[in-house]
Amino acid sequence: MCGIVGYIGREEAAPILLYGLSRLEYRGYDSAGISVYNNGCLNTVKAVGKLQNLIDLTDSGKNVPGCVGIGHTRWATHGQPSDINSHPHVSASGKISVVHNGIIENYLELKEMLISEGVQFKSETDTEVVSQLIDYYYNGDLMDAVSRALAKLEGSYALVIISSEQPDVIIAARKDAPLIVAYGDGCNYIASDVAAVLKYTRQVSYLEDDEIAVVKADSVTVYNEYGKPIDKAVTTVEWDIEDAQKGGYPHFMIKEIHEQPKVIRNTISAHIKDGRVDLSDTILSEEFCRDIRRICIIGCGSANHVGVVGRYLLEKYTRIPTEAVLASEFRYSEPIVDEHSLIIVISQSGETADTIAAMREAKRLGAKTLAIVNVVGSTIAKEADCVLYTLAGPEIAVATTKAYSAQLAVMYLVTIAIADKLGRLDAAEHDEIVRELCLLPEKVEHILADKEKLQQYASQYFNNESIFFIGRNLDYAISLEGSLKLKEISYIHSEAYAGGELKHGTISLIEPKTLVIAVATYEKLFDKLMSNVKEVTARGANVLCVAQQHNSGSATDAVNNAFFIPDTHEMLTPSLAAIPLQLFAYYVALSRGCDIDKPRNLAKSVTVE
Ligand code: BG6
Repeated sequence: MCGIVGYIGREEAAPILLYGLSRLEYRGYDSAGISVYNNGCLNTVKAVGKLQNLIDLTDSGKNVPGCVGIGHTRWATHGQPSDINSHPHVSASGKISVVHNGIIENYLELKEMLISEGVQFKSETDTEVVSQLIDYYYNGDLMDAVSRALAKLEGSYALVIISSEQPDVIIAARKDAPLIVAYGDGCNYIASDVAAVLKYTRQVSYLEDDEIAVVKADSVTVYNEYGKPIDKAVTTVEWDIEDAQKGGYPHFMIKEIHEQPKVIRNTISAHIKDGRVDLSDTILSEEFCRDIRRICIIGCGSANHVGVVGRYLLEKYTRIPTEAVLASEFRYSEPIVDEHSLIIVISQSGETADTIAAMREAKRLGAKTLAIVNVVGSTIAKEADCVLYTLAGPEIAVATTKAYSAQLAVMYLVTIAIADKLGRLDAAEHDEIVRELCLLPEKVEHILADKEKLQQYASQYFNNESIFFIGRNLDYAISLEGSLKLKEISYIHSEAYAGGELKHGTISLIEPKTLVIAVATYEKLFDKLMSNVKEVTARGANVLCVAQQHNSGSATDAVNNAFFIPDTHEMLTPSLAAIPLQLFAYYVALSRGCDIDKPRNLAKSVTVE
């Protein structure tokens, strides 16, 4: 997520903005900038790369004088990291400067309208459209111009606006992206989270969706969606800086687990048009899809596990032979790929050395590469023939959760798009899957609301020496991920097995009290998996079964514990089944006192071989 700071008062704004941005660096970013009002105009300085570049460029803010300003650290979603694409974005007239966190989904149509009105654009971003739109509506009343512009926006935003025409005010507007107002002595602040202002004040108000704050040095007025002034509660923040950066959660991982509904919604909505999946701006044309003879999905760690899900889905729905291959294996296996092969490259960081090398080997052999990446402008994003971004925002915890879920969402979109192009998905099923896709966020919310159950299971098993996961088909792919999550952060030995594989050796490891987590959400093989459950319970194992809600009752009564996920389309169960396993791993690691966000020996991205 991007970082936002605003200040209005008697002090020099720039040093305060730069300090506030430095407390937001943890959010991940690729560029930064500030705009400060001085003597009738807005001075804007931006720098790609680390915040230190901006500090150096502005001599720690000394050469950007003025007492009203806004600042921003950008996590790129639209447009490469660059000076031009960095925020703040200033309108063509120079009157309006805007910083933004979120995604404006209809920015292209607004941009076309403004261009048709003669507005000149400089950047590729959705945010510049907001700045230009406010200027377009500006007629001497900034609040009116902002209100009219907001009425045209679709998507999520935390927006902070200043104008050279009304330098005694900062306007802040919130919709689906957090924003706070903080109260100082003869001054006031705005920020995307309290970490930016705790040095100055602990008195804050949290803006709600569709509220607009008009912030002056000596007053703050908040308006509701009907334009009525409302009283906002003032909260005294008890957190310290580190807590603030986690938004009050004890760890980044649990915070990111809770961001998954929003991340899935953002990632999916970017490619749904009129109720159907639309990847028309990618290489997946009908002609291209009809020419694919083989698909290889390459990645490491959790990215590979998304590949295993993708392998089952692509083979089932497109009938194209598909393989999920560990990138570190692919690169040395003399892979049989050529110009009729599609290589799907999955990577959160876009910088994993094995995955980069595997992608380059595939390209050398003539294959086309489609990347699923979270970091805009990363090596894999730049070198792949085509890239689909997971709009997960920066992921701080080493063990991936929200980026993994966003990767799953993109994998569904790719499967549907190719199947559709090949005429293998009738309109009714396409509509049904998209309908269920759009319901995933609220179904994830439903599971998160039940997290105490996982906490309770974790308290029973956190001292186990080893924990086994079993599943079949998609549930096998989920078992791999559940087992990795547990290993990564709790250091408990764990293995994931295809349910049918148990009798070929592994079952010798089952003894009384062994915990087996049976993932049984793949409808077609539910009964088969439940017979595997009987095999292990007959040998004294404890079983925690994850199944769909409609399978609660007789079949699952045989197990010690069951966790039910909301029913969904058979393609989409991985997104729901993964959540209880993430939570289970988290609470087991918590009970064991592990360093959850930074597990021993692990790196967030392994950029060396
Ligand atoms: C590991 C991470 O180092 O790399 C995993 O701990 C991740 O969470 C794997 O899945 C691959 O990283 P990336 O950035 O290529 O997805």
